[in-house]
Amino acid sequence: MLILGIESSCDETSAAVVEERGGRVYALSNIVASQIETHRLYGGVVPEIASRAHIEAISPTVLQALSEAGVTPRELDAVAVTSHPGLIGALLVGVNFAKSFAYAWDKPIVPVNHVHAHTAAAYLAMPGLEPPFLSLVVSGGHTSFYHVAGFTDYREIGGTRDDAAGEAFDKIGRVIGLPYPGGAAMDKLAREGDLSEYRREFMLPSPALTGDNLDFSFSGLKTAALNLLNGMAQRGEALEGERRAAFASAYTGAIVSAIASKIPAALAASGCRRLVIAGGVAANSHLREAAANVCRAVGAELILPPTNLCGDNAAMVAAEGAFLFSAGVRGDVSLNAHAGDSDN
Ligand code: KG4
Ligand code: ZN
Repeated sequence: MLILGIESSCDETSAAVVEERGGRVYALSNIVASQIETHRLYGGVVPEIASRAHIEAISPTVLQALSEAGVTPRELDAVAVTSHPGLIGALLVGVNFAKSFAYAWDKPIVPVNHVHAHTAAAYLAMPGLEPPFLSLVVSGGHTSFYHVAGFTDYREIGGTRDDAAGEAFDKIGRVIGLPYPGGAAMDKLAREGDLSEYRREFMLPSPALTGDNLDFSFSGLKTAALNLLNGMAQRGEALEGERRAAFASAYTGAIVSAIASKIPAALAASGCRRLVIAGGVAANSHLREAAANVCRAVGAELILPPTNLCGDNAAMVAAEGAFLFSAGVRGDVSLNAHAGDSDN
């Protein structure tokens, strides 16, 4: 089975062709046209600019995905498209392109949940992987644990009460002068950071909620970091050199250790011994190390997709779409995009 995937929920226009054979998925192409340079000027994603950039990029991106895969539209079995959650104007570009394409070539259309699709990157990274397992999706919009009971059966068992981990990286990254999106730059800067002299100065609250839950709250950490940085600015103290790197290390450490601390309880709650970590923040080198240590300590298997499959891409959408298609899920000409998480 050949599935064309289309993704336009935020700031990457992406198209991919995925082949499904015997329940396994393989990416034949995965083209990502990033808008990051455009939005960097503004320090964050500007929704209206994102929508316009998707409109410009979508046709060439889809054509390139088909040609790189060596697949013609006629050979496709279905078109899978991210229908939610995300920026509504951005989503609408992908959904409307997918509907027109599917109508023109008389192909079925499959709406895909972007957050579930992040987990499906693991099936591409490890063909043969099958549920059940625990999935942790850490991205710009989500920090959620899912008990993945089947290829299309996601049960959220924990999440963030406010901001997501990626957003927490990007917002504070911007304040300390890192280019948008701050996550990857903070990851690198934190590698250079030596906290030994700064541990007391850069004491930050944990975003892991206490008690018997698998939830996070990143807003308190963000506020504490802002207060700390504002206090330094008011005292005329510069945040540069090794001090800036030490701050990045303390801030990254607060996020990563909070997430890692919830992994054993999340594994126990799901009854699984395997953990997939997916989403843009899954590319974070500190998180990858911390998760490996926790999983080793509790005897669980860890599956980390390669970093190019962590960020937004259409291969993950096509992969999830292949399983949904097999389960009989179809959209029609009335298919609409929506910004929220709900599948309805
Ligand atoms: O999954 P994604 O591409 O888009 C959403 O669905 O949100 O995730 C984007 C997020 C951004 O917040 C970005 O800063 C973060 O992933 N990110 C990272 C790293 N690479 C990307 N965060 C921390 N460390 C990284 N290496
Ligand atoms: Zn995403």
